[in-house]
Amino acid sequence: MLVNTIFVVLLAMSHGVFAEKMLRPKFKDIKIWSEEKLVSHKVVYDHSDPHLNFSMEVHQELHDVDIHLEVRITNKLDPMYTTTLNTTLNICRILGFANKSPVGRFVHGFIREFGNIVESCPIAKGSYFINKFWWPEDPTTAILPELEFDIIWEAYHIDASKKRTLIMNDHFTGDFTVQDVNNLKPGIFAMLPKSV
Ligand SMILES: *[C@@H]1O[C@H](CO)[C@@H](O)[C@H](O)[C@H]1NC(C)=O
Ligand SMILES: *[C@@H]1O[C@H](CO)[C@@H](O)[C@H](O)[C@H]1NC(C)=O
Repeated sequence: MLVNTIFVVLLAMSHGVFAEKMLRPKFKDIKIWSEEKLVSHKVVYDHSDPHLNFSMEVHQELHDVDIHLEVRITNKLDPMYTTTLNTTLNICRILGFANKSPVGRFVHGFIREFGNIVESCPIAKGSYFINKFWWPEDPTTAILPELEFDIIWEAYHIDASKKRTLIMNDHFTGDFTVQDVNNLKPGIFAMLPKSV
C-alpha cells in the first residue's frame, strides 16, 4: 500500500518535471481532394505523437506549380483578434531560391530529412513523401489565447501554354490549445549544426 502510494507520488512528480506547456494544433476536420489524373495525394495527422505524413503520387510530369494558401487564425474569446494570410506562391521559384540561398538550403535540408521531396522543376513522375514531419517546438511560458485555425491549400498545375488546372484542394480546421506535453520536439536552436 505504502509502496503503491510512493509510486503514484513519484509518477505524479515525474510528470510534473517532464511536462511542458506547448501550443499545439488539434485538427477537427481534414478534407483532402486530388485531381487524380496528374496527381494523387494524402495527408494524415497523429495527435498523440504529433506528426504529419504527406504523400503524393505524380502521374504525369508537372511543368510548373502554384500553391494558393489561405490561413485564418481567430482568438476564440475575441473574434476581433484575427490574423489572415492569403497568398499564392510558385513552387518552382521557391525551389530555385532553396537551391541558391543558405537560408533556403537550411529549410529545404530540414524538410528533406523527413522523406523524398520535390527538388526541382519540372516535377518528374514518381512518389514523393514527407513522413513524421513536425516543426521544432519551444516550451511556452506566456499565457496564450486559445486560437482557432482554418487553412485552405490549393495547388494548380500550369502547363506550357499557361493553362491552370486545380490539382489539390485541402481544407484543415481545428484549434491551437495550450497542452501539457511530455514529448516536446526540440527547438530551432537544437537543430543548428553543433560543431561550427
Ligand atoms: C507516418 O509515417 C510513419 C513512417 O512510415 C509511420 O510510422 C506512422 O505511423 C505514420 N503516421 C500516421 C498517422 O499514419
Ligand atoms: C484571397 O484572395 C483571392 C484573390 O485575391 C480572393 O479571391 C479571395 O476571396 C481571398 N480570400 C479571402 C478569405 O479573403
